Amino acid sequence: MDLVLYHPEWGYYSRRGVAPGFREVGRGGDFFTSVSVGETYGLLLAHRITRIWETDFGRALPFVLVEQGGHDGRLARDILAGLREIGTPLIEGLEYRLVEPRPGLRKVLEDDLANNPVEGLRVIDSLEASRAPAGLFLCNELLDAFPVDLLVFTEGAWHERRVGWDGASARPDWVTAPLRPEWASFAALLGTDYPEGYQTELCPAVDAWMADAALLFERGFWWIIDYGHEQSDYYLPQRSTGTLRCYRGHRAGEDPFAHPGEQDLTAHVDFTRVEEAARREGLARSLFTDQHHFLIDAARPWLLSLEGKRPDAATAKRLRQFQTLTHPAMMGQQFKVMEFTRPRA
Ligand SMILES: C[S@@+](CC[C@H](N)C(=O)[O-])C[C@H]1O[C@@H](n2cnc3c(N)ncnc32)[C@H](O)[C@@H]1O
Repeated sequence: MDLVLYHPEWGYYSRRGVAPGFREVGRGGDFFTSVSVGETYGLLLAHRITRIWETDFGRALPFVLVEQGGHDGRLARDILAGLREIGTPLIEGLEYRLVEPRPGLRKVLEDDLANNPVEGLRVIDSLEASRAPAGLFLCNELLDAFPVDLLVFTEGAWHERRVGWDGASARPDWVTAPLRPEWASFAALLGTDYPEGYQTELCPAVDAWMADAALLFERGFWWIIDYGHEQSDYYLPQRSTGTLRCYRGHRAGEDPFAHPGEQDLTAHVDFTRVEEAARREGLARSLFTDQHHFLIDAARPWLLSLEGKRPDAATAKRLRQFQTLTHPAMMGQQFKVMEFTRPRA
């Protein structure tokens, strides 16, 4: 999964060997995200950031926003435009750090910024280099793009499903292997009450990533926005085929070996794992809700500002985006927001 998504030449998200630059997300791409719905997502996050800065940080500057997995920088631009529209003094002392560790993609972002500069926006190569005394971290659909390991329950025990090579058909294929010792305690936690052939996944990269992300701020907020579940739901015996999915041209597929480097691979986020990793690093969960509740709450000042006015075409467009983002049957319920803070010493 790591190779087909992130190989420096041919990976789905690198694609230097194909067409340098960022893949389109949205209508012309393989999948939609809240960012690709339109500018309203950034505007609503800007409202919520403004409130946090005012109430939790007493309007103190400097204040830093750090985003990882920000792809082509669209959300960064939308949030900064939203803050300017709100007219908050936060914008005067704010730095927005977009973390892009891959040199090729960082160069694309830097060139883009040189041609189309945005005040306060900088591209940084690592979380470590983005550290600041106070700020807010956010990532939208970053963790669902982390590589996962597959587990399969067969013959009364947990095994791993690894990638092997089928010489006859000359293509990669699954190989069932004994569970590696480091997953034994997780398998014990799951138990054995599963049907034969049950497949699921776990994402070991979350732990090291959180250890890094938690060091960003002495005082801060962390937002992890993604689709996923807590373990009590994620590992239900009824979810017998797991959550690993492939996306190409807005079609969901089940064959991760198809179209290597040309289809997205993704798995749902295990939010319990995220929370446990955060807690080990001294962070405390301050919120876990769905996007519907998170954005409706964030939207209050914006909706109040519209009250009693006939919406013009631009406002009507934003209201349609708002509906897509928040409607439970659209993006409102599927996406979750887990927020952490660092308790004062
Ligand atoms: C599903 S896309 C989401 C893009 C964007 N945030 C959105 O919501 O439209 C996942 C993004 O995470 C990026 N990504 C994955 N691992 C990363 C890492 N370690 N650091 C920075 N970006 C990463 C991928 O390159 C890709 O742009």
